[in-house]
Amino acid sequence: MSKPKVFVCRDIPEQGLIIVQNYCKADVWPGEIPPSREELIAHIRDVDGLLCLLTDLIDQEVIEAAGPQLKVISNHAVGFDNVDVKSATRLGIPVGNTPGILTETTADFTFALIMATSRRLIEGHTCVRSGGWRTWGPKFLLGKDIFGATIGIVGYGRIGQAVARRARGFNMKILYYDPDLTGNSDPASLGAQATSLEELLRKSDFVTIHTPLNEQTYHMLDKKAFQKMKPDTILINTARGGIVESEALYIALKEHSIAFAALDVTEPEPIPIESPLLELDNLLITPHMASASQATRGKMAEMAACNLIAGLRGERLPYCVNPEVYDTNHFKV
Ligand code: DGY
Repeated sequence: MSKPKVFVCRDIPEQGLIIVQNYCKADVWPGEIPPSREELIAHIRDVDGLLCLLTDLIDQEVIEAAGPQLKVISNHAVGFDNVDVKSATRLGIPVGNTPGILTETTADFTFALIMATSRRLIEGHTCVRSGGWRTWGPKFLLGKDIFGATIGIVGYGRIGQAVARRARGFNMKILYYDPDLTGNSDPASLGAQATSLEELLRKSDFVTIHTPLNEQTYHMLDKKAFQKMKPDTILINTARGGIVESEALYIALKEHSIAFAALDVTEPEPIPIESPLLELDNLLITPHMASASQATRGKMAEMAACNLIAGLRGERLPYCVNPEVYDTNHFKV
């Protein structure tokens, strides 16, 4: 029996790649840079399965370019805002993602950003390296305490709650806002308090974003939102760049209506080197690396491979973002 044909949009960690290559005839995109749209469309033609990354825009045109034999789209990420799930569902194609596995790794990194910004880690390092460390100074590089401060968690799902657990260890007061959770349910039982977004923005010393990007959350942090924040607020975003309106953030940082921001995600990605945001001293930017531990990325690749193969076999995906696809008449076996 001939192996199913798949396109893998990048050289993923071996843990997942081996599984894919054992089961499929895999066309693996080489190199570090994702395929262009034209290249993606050319390589997806006639495949039975697609293993894509958050850098690949899988819209209706791309899905249709594959042809009617396409059985599964497996996204190597927990976020799936890069995939047109509605079109996939309409065409009877299950879409997989990698939830859960990167929760703790991402929460760790969120705390790394909280600590680096509040305690001026990068400035300290740069100062020493550039010969600026002349003595111990009572007013030198003073930062902001984390313990006892109020953290506002926007999006209280798996990652938001993992951040809350860490915040509790720092004796922080925890507020959360989640458009999908109603009431004061405090699902993580951490003494966290549900609030409106407005109250969270007004009261938090640290605002950290952990919602998915969708129509509801796109540019959720806009000019009005920044106006509600305290001038010493530090904003952290390890979710998706599109949740924060870049121009409004630029103005808020430039005018010091908030103190600092740390972004692991930007809109677009990568951020253009000429972006005015990069001229600001009160901004720390990292290249979308919050989930980048060796163990986690290996497991993400494995999950993405298992979703892909389940889809090719006509089995339910272990992690499916559009389970309603199984209720439609279109489901392909
Ligand atoms: C995801 O999986 O959505 C993350 O953003 C990857 O780091």
